[in-house]
Amino acid sequence: KMDKFVTTLLARMTLDEKIGQLNLPAIGFDVTGPILSQGVEGKIEKGLVGGVFNTFTPNAVRKLQELAVTKTRLKIPLLFGYDVIHGHKTIFPMPIALSATWNLPLIQQTARAAAEEASADGLNWVFSPMVDIARDPRWGRVAEGAGEDTWLGSQIATAMVKGYQGDDLSLNNTVLACVKHFALYGAAEGGRDYNTVDMSERKMMETYLPPYKAAVDAGAGSVMSSFNEINGTPAAASGALLTDLLRKKWGFKGLVATDYTAIVELTKHGIGDVPEAGRQALIAGNDMDMVSEIYINELKKLVQAKKLDVAYIDLACRRVLEAKYKLGLFDDPYRYVNEDRAANEIMNAEKLALSKRAAAESIVLLKNNNVLPLNQQQKIAFIGPLVQDKRNLIGSWSGAGDWTKAISVWAGVNENYPSKKYTYTKGCNLIDDKDLMARLNRNGADLTLDAKSPADMIDEAVSAAKKADIAVVVLGESFMMTGEAASRSDIGLPENQKALLKALKATGKPIVLVLMNGRPLTLQWEDDNLNAIVETWYGGHRAGEAIADVLFGKYNPSGKLTMTFPRNIGQIPIYYSAKNTGRPIDPNEKYTSKYLDVPNTPLYPFGFGLSYAKFEYGAISLSKEVIKATDKLTATVTITNTGKYDGEETAQLYVRDVVGSVTRPVKELKGFKKLFLKAGESKTITFALDVYDLKFYDINMKYTAEPGEFQVFIGTNSRDLQTATFRLL
Ligand code: IFM
Repeated sequence: KMDKFVTTLLARMTLDEKIGQLNLPAIGFDVTGPILSQGVEGKIEKGLVGGVFNTFTPNAVRKLQELAVTKTRLKIPLLFGYDVIHGHKTIFPMPIALSATWNLPLIQQTARAAAEEASADGLNWVFSPMVDIARDPRWGRVAEGAGEDTWLGSQIATAMVKGYQGDDLSLNNTVLACVKHFALYGAAEGGRDYNTVDMSERKMMETYLPPYKAAVDAGAGSVMSSFNEINGTPAAASGALLTDLLRKKWGFKGLVATDYTAIVELTKHGIGDVPEAGRQALIAGNDMDMVSEIYINELKKLVQAKKLDVAYIDLACRRVLEAKYKLGLFDDPYRYVNEDRAANEIMNAEKLALSKRAAAESIVLLKNNNVLPLNQQQKIAFIGPLVQDKRNLIGSWSGAGDWTKAISVWAGVNENYPSKKYTYTKGCNLIDDKDLMARLNRNGADLTLDAKSPADMIDEAVSAAKKADIAVVVLGESFMMTGEAASRSDIGLPENQKALLKALKATGKPIVLVLMNGRPLTLQWEDDNLNAIVETWYGGHRAGEAIADVLFGKYNPSGKLTMTFPRNIGQIPIYYSAKNTGRPIDPNEKYTSKYLDVPNTPLYPFGFGLSYAKFEYGAISLSKEVIKATDKLTATVTITNTGKYDGEETAQLYVRDVVGSVTRPVKELKGFKKLFLKAGESKTITFALDVYDLKFYDINMKYTAEPGEFQVFIGTNSRDLQTATFRLL
């Protein structure tokens, strides 16, 4: 039916009208690149626009949709896209934080809630999920993804696509997902945004591409091509990627849009002039041109000059029309414009409760020397520029979110755990490097310097700490230090914050560091010197309450890291699924693979996160020690909560192929289970493994499992594990 409808419509369209459908300008609220599209309303009336992004609210969307369906000859409705990354108006924790919940149904629910809100607000297309595997915490966009692991990243990609798109895209509360950034954007050299990627085919296939594939398999309706080049070809000009791999090999049937001005940027990559950039981008497989407007300016001329086959335009236009058809826009162009739904569904109690739950589950306890949880009888000095802050809590990429509605730590504590024994002191500015402040403020960081001098602020904090039983210090990155174009070469806390911590340490009082940030930080000094460290990321609208619940023990922290935290910047890249090398570290041997000045181990490994409970793992029992390729294997382990608190644990299963036709990582995540254990309780859990979990690209790039010995590991993180072995025949 769709095919017939689209074919008939295409047959009625002029070349200009077809090219118009490929144009995706930005209009409205946000600028997420160097330029903003101009004169969009006039272009819509002329049929020169297929979709817009950055416009939302029923009113604004209705206005633009009306132009398309009343003023243009064929009355083709527009797509309305937006960067709904971790919630639309109800803001959930940043994606890296959500991934730390290791709770796929919960992650799916947040995407579902975001889709409900976005679709009630006029939108039918979200530029999410970002599924780029990221192993370099200098890259600011690690905050937007699910971390370093391919297997977990693939599961999360699937959950998010299902959440956004539901079972039926034509319903008025489901939206088109957009998997981004295709491909390998997370592997930019040096962690510098937009930078070059050079990667072996094996690494691509094994490590970086599976999450995109998982999202495509889950039915994602659209894909965004990426800014970076790969092995000499910009992704946005790569037919090998956008057509041969994505469409022909993976069977993707949806729509591909470029990222922002990616087509014009092809000229800067050095592939040719503006018309050539447009030609290559279209032929490669980009259906929609985001912001560059090269398609509407150049494609017709290229066709007339016989440099471009019109079939490419037809094909791209067909995909845009099909997306609109699937969304039901031809039946009702106003399907996603609904004031009543907007009033009832946006930021309702249910969504805010979900935001709080997600925030609580995303918090990772990195250290605790028996000082947490706190109690209301203690004299607590709350110190730090983020104690009362709301601006940073909702993080980057929260464009439609109203930060003034966020609940700060101070409010969360005082409203839920009131006491007259708490004090608040700012202690330091969030940042006091003036150059950095100016740069971040240009993009809306809202950073200011306190009227007091840094020395006076520290003195005040020190005296507050001295009068208290314990200091809770809330520090971190400005939200503008993460996200797009926010790479850092030093991923420690800002120097002025470290100076505050050092002065507080000198008081001898116990110190709890509560962190808000969007990437792994280097925290060696903090780990060595402070009593507790709580990683809270940017937790969204209800973060302050969730943090308070964790600090006072109402919620026992259960989050686990999805990116390795290095000891220092020189260890990067550092990730758990590394190769063994021919000279694995031996501290007593000079000629082994190691640093002279820092251990090979990270500060906090992948999968790490403490609890107020204490979980002990028994030995692994395998159902078989030898299996055939058609067999299933179960690995069983008993976990006991030997602590005083009830709590949740995420048990993780890793596998190692000991000998292969190509070398294999020392371990790879293949499963996890999140379970609740009362104090003193034991539970036995079973993981099922089959041959699929043992497959990889062999020496001939065939995806297969090779016979031989395997190790299976189960434990509380990627470092502390029980081990068993089996053999595949
Ligand atoms: O969706 C984003 C993308 O992730 C980065 N560049 C801008 C796009 C649209 O805002």
